Amino acid sequence: MTKKNKETIAMKWSYSPALESKDHINLREKYDLFINGKWMKPSSGKYFKTFNPADESFLAEVAHADAKDVDKAVQAARDAYNNVWSKISPSERAKYIYRIARLMQERAREFAVIETLDAGKTIRESRDVDVPLACNHFFYYAGWADKLDYAFPNRKVSSLGVAGQIIPWNFPLLMAAWKIAPALAAGNTVVLKPAETTPLTALKLAEIIEESGLPAGVVNIVTGFGDTGAAIVNHPDTDKIAFTGSTNVGKMIQKSLAGTNKKITLELGGKSANIIFEDAPIDQAVEGIINGIFFNQGHVCCAGSRLFVQESIADVVIRKLKDRMRSLFVGNPLDKNTDIGAINSKEQLATILKYINIGKEEGAEIFQLACDIPDKGYYCPPTLFTNVAQSSVIAQEEIFGPVLTIQTFRTVDEVIQKANNSPFGLAAGVWTDKGSRIFNLTTKLKAGVIWANTYNKFDPSSPFGGYKESGFGREGGLHGLSAYVKLS
Ligand code: NAI
Ligand code: MG
Repeated sequence: MTKKNKETIAMKWSYSPALESKDHINLREKYDLFINGKWMKPSSGKYFKTFNPADESFLAEVAHADAKDVDKAVQAARDAYNNVWSKISPSERAKYIYRIARLMQERAREFAVIETLDAGKTIRESRDVDVPLACNHFFYYAGWADKLDYAFPNRKVSSLGVAGQIIPWNFPLLMAAWKIAPALAAGNTVVLKPAETTPLTALKLAEIIEESGLPAGVVNIVTGFGDTGAAIVNHPDTDKIAFTGSTNVGKMIQKSLAGTNKKITLELGGKSANIIFEDAPIDQAVEGIINGIFFNQGHVCCAGSRLFVQESIADVVIRKLKDRMRSLFVGNPLDKNTDIGAINSKEQLATILKYINIGKEEGAEIFQLACDIPDKGYYCPPTLFTNVAQSSVIAQEEIFGPVLTIQTFRTVDEVIQKANNSPFGLAAGVWTDKGSRIFNLTTKLKAGVIWANTYNKFDPSSPFGGYKESGFGREGGLHGLSAYVKLS
């Protein structure tokens, strides 16, 4: 440990370490591909390693699927679709989905610990947010499986076929749930690829799916890198592609699917505005700002990464924000006291540090929590920038780390104009005592999700998704179900 600033550290409470135990988890040393209900070796014989970003320790070897393996997985999904899944009754489908939800719930602690080990996110979040929400998505969509005619009244509802799904590393299990649950409920079969730095909870989910007795081939999990994802996208026999990840890869996918019949949903980046008016409850707003950007180390596509504060309260908000930042704990994600865990990978840390340097060079004023940081692993202290110009790179580009930019505003029209001046349009937050102002802003902000007097709250029944370069299509709720059906 390096002592950076004794004064700041002394201001905090001190807690004894409260590490979540790893004794109860069951990890294999080597994972094969889950295809057609069996564990299959990759045809190339190649495996890659996944690490714990909190201390760079090795966790497991994971198969690298190539186009041949993806072809087997798509074939298995097609056969399962034709022969089983499209034929059984919707209420039978629901039973399997409920069973998966219950098995996940029974093993919630194991999922939470593995998620924290593989992704670097705090155990508090994986235990209280990721895993319960993932279970809830399965429960929620299980409920729709035999009610599709009520979900889309007066329409003929049919499934699409085989869904190819590619997910990122920021919410590995939750993104798998967001993708798999509605696809199955609507009667589709699935080939899913988790991100290369966080494959383990999706593979754990494969074990649960095996245990649930879901017919072979209905869900196939293939691990690998971008080439594996591209093989899923470009396979001629997938009917739908759902992707969550970077805007660059999303654009590539959209190009390669142009002119095909495949249905597509893209959930990409963001640079969301969190807007605080002078009549807002300031202490709650400060908590909302902290939760909006430092939650999950800022690895959140809808992170409230641009803060807009009304000028009359800017000084007090910034002072309170800095005070609150001084009380945050950065460190071992398995410790229940930790507020900010590890950055997901060395590459992502390099990206974040690059942006912090750009911010300094652009002349913005930096405030960073001075804190102890473990010697090994990838960490970034919570950081905020004031004096940020609207045109600056740090206010325009997605950083995907615990870095907040602060700008001030005087009038409602000014803040709407500034908030919308972004290539992205995923989410926004509005903090004010006035209901009419909330409604005014929700109609004028170009963002898919707008929170009022809260931030980063999710529920399986609420749709989520963006405008502009944040992608299109919605996940969650009925909207999320409609992305997996054909209506006539
Ligand atoms: P990425 O977009 O490369 O990775 C997301 C997923 O896509 C992974 O499973 C990856 O293996 C797969 N993939 C990569 N190339 C592909 C291709 N050509 N075809 C099909 N699948 C492909 O994201 P990356 O490089 O990990 O992160 C870069 C930046 O993207 C981050 O700094 C952040 O700004 C943004 N990002 C946004 C996310 C979101 O939730 N919207 C999630 C992760 C990253
Ligand atoms: Mg990992």
